[in-house]
Amino acid sequence: MFITGAAAGIGRATALKFAAAGYHVGAYDIDETGLASLAKEITAKGAKVTTGVLNVTDHEQMVTRLAEFDEATGGRLDILINNAGILVAGPFEDMPIEVHRREIDINVGGVISGTLAAFPYLKKTRGAQVVNLCSASAIYGQAELATYSASKFAVRGLTEALDLEWKRHDIRVLAMWPLFVQSAMTANISTGTTNSLGIKLTTQDVADGIFKATQDRSKLTQDLLHKVHFPVGTPSKLMSLGSRFSPAWLTRRVNKRLANT
Ligand SMILES: NC(=O)c1ccc[n+]([C@@H]2O[C@H](COP(=O)([O-])OP(=O)(O)OC[C@H]3O[C@@H](n4cnc5c(N)ncnc54)[C@H](O)[C@@H]3O)[C@@H](O)[C@H]2O)c1
Repeated sequence: MFITGAAAGIGRATALKFAAAGYHVGAYDIDETGLASLAKEITAKGAKVTTGVLNVTDHEQMVTRLAEFDEATGGRLDILINNAGILVAGPFEDMPIEVHRREIDINVGGVISGTLAAFPYLKKTRGAQVVNLCSASAIYGQAELATYSASKFAVRGLTEALDLEWKRHDIRVLAMWPLFVQSAMTANISTGTTNSLGIKLTTQDVADGIFKATQDRSKLTQDLLHKVHFPVGTPSKLMSLGSRFSPAWLTRRVNKRLANT
């Protein structure tokens, strides 16, 4: 399993979860210190880990790290997790263009780069999977998180399209949809929705959700009920279900109320 943004937060909890389950984990991040402590924690438990510095906006680096991991695993990539992401909250007009671009570059560009570079390895591994970190912000555009929200709508589209397109290569593509999670990402933010909904999920909740989503390979979930999107936590499940059945005006009104705009 190869994961980006693994040094902290959801990525770290997920790396530890898969390592504990016996996976050889490839953990990549821009944060070398965080990676070193993660590697120490995993190897102390007798599990296998390969780490490397990776900025997901650098496609050449992505290609190199994936080739290195392929060599370390003996030519197998069961799961790619595109996790690295950033969130900048606040009024849209207060953020300079560089900030908006950076958010798109990392959150969308990083997923495209990882998925593209991993393709040869996913293709040669039977039943390979790609997990993208989407968000409940892709259910309805979020005030004060407009560009972040837009980046997650893009991740949603990529996931849905590639899940259809790559069926012929036996590659499954799925997205995780957590609501706000307690991590460095949300530590200092205060928006209408973080205040009204709270920040309740833990990184472990999301790691457990990712693990569960990737392990269910039954015919029912793979073929008949083919599930692409995995909300994490009850509020996210209710919101994504509600948005599918409520009329557009009501969905907007609920989101307006939650965002306190
Ligand atoms: N925290 C939340 O509320 C929440 C909710 C839904 C979805 N998500 C998504 O989950 C993912 C992980 O979020 P988190 O809460 O763990 O964030 P976090 O800030 O705690 O950790 C993000 C990790 O990504 C790394 N990173 C940042 N930019 C990078 C880059 N350019 N290249 C490689 N690594 C980079 C950081 O160094 C850090 O280790 C993100 O995609 C985020 O959008 C988070």
